[in-house]
Amino acid sequence: MPTVCRLFPPPYATVPLHGLYLQQRLHQLGTPLRPLVYANFLASLDGRIALEDNATGHPYLPKSLTTPNDFRLFLELEAQADCLITHGGYLRALHEGRLGNILQIGCHPEHRDLAQWRLDQGLSAQPAIVIASASLDFPMPPSLKANHQAVYIATGRAADPAKMAFWQNQGYEILIVGAERMVAGGPLVRALGDRGYQSLYLIAGPHMLDTMLRDGQLQRLYQTITHQLMGGEAFRTLVPGPVLGPIGHLKLRSLYYDAASHGDAGQWFAQFEQSLQPRI
Ligand SMILES: NC(=O)c1ccc[n+]([C@@H]2O[C@H](COP(=O)([O-])OP(=O)(O)OC[C@H]3O[C@@H](n4cnc5c(N)ncnc54)[C@H](OP(=O)(O)O)[C@@H]3O)[C@@H](O)[C@H]2O)c1
Repeated sequence: MPTVCRLFPPPYATVPLHGLYLQQRLHQLGTPLRPLVYANFLASLDGRIALEDNATGHPYLPKSLTTPNDFRLFLELEAQADCLITHGGYLRALHEGRLGNILQIGCHPEHRDLAQWRLDQGLSAQPAIVIASASLDFPMPPSLKANHQAVYIATGRAADPAKMAFWQNQGYEILIVGAERMVAGGPLVRALGDRGYQSLYLIAGPHMLDTMLRDGQLQRLYQTITHQLMGGEAFRTLVPGPVLGPIGHLKLRSLYYDAASHGDAGQWFAQFEQSLQPRI
């Protein structure tokens, strides 16, 4: 079984990787009035979360960023969510085979324990799914219906009415949670709280992180920092928008060192919390 070293908080200790994030019991920390919103990102030392393909300009996740240990912790966070927030771009990438499926828990034999853990905690077998999209132009993955997952589509008031009607006619609830075409963080979190959800895991990309952060909704950020300088002339980083200021100031909650994951290089698993109170 893999182990990691706890560097913070003291004392320094070697601890098992499995269960590291499950023991935080995130599913019990939020309430429908104030759901816990958390996100997880994977970055290189020079802050890259994705590189851009020179020929197409499309972003992609470099293989060298990902490791089985990081994926395990990603799934432990997912197991504690009653609702996952993804976006239209991910569903397009999933459909085209550019990204793997992360919409259900316990699909791989080595992570089956997480499916049982959810049931033991009284959580639904699979989390609800929110698809944030301004374009409303994405394919619905068949795995959502097959796993009986509640599905919501979140968009802004100015989204295309014909596309809204298309999804409503297929039985999907549309959450209008933005004044223009884009989703706004506060209205989305309130709409999900009103429906009883209390642990919301943001598995979307940098724009939804930006949306949640600027609206004062993100409470915890989990970040894996791999000890590699990646370079690359065109790349993506965590927050695409303008300077954030104090709302981007975070407090470290924990830091673990995984020395073995990248051959000679290692990685840190860091956890931060928002130092400002969430807006409700
Ligand atoms: N290293 C990591 O941890 C990590 C994590 C996530 C992503 N990535 C990578 O980063 C690259 C870019 O990320 P990405 O494509 O996932 O995400 P992105 O560029 O942040 O967002 C893509 C899509 O999300 C929807 N969206 C975002 N914010 C929205 C809002 N406020 N309201 C409505 N819709 C919104 C839009 O969908 P519509 O076009 O349907 O309107 C948009 O096209 C990818 O290569 C991805 O693999 C890396």
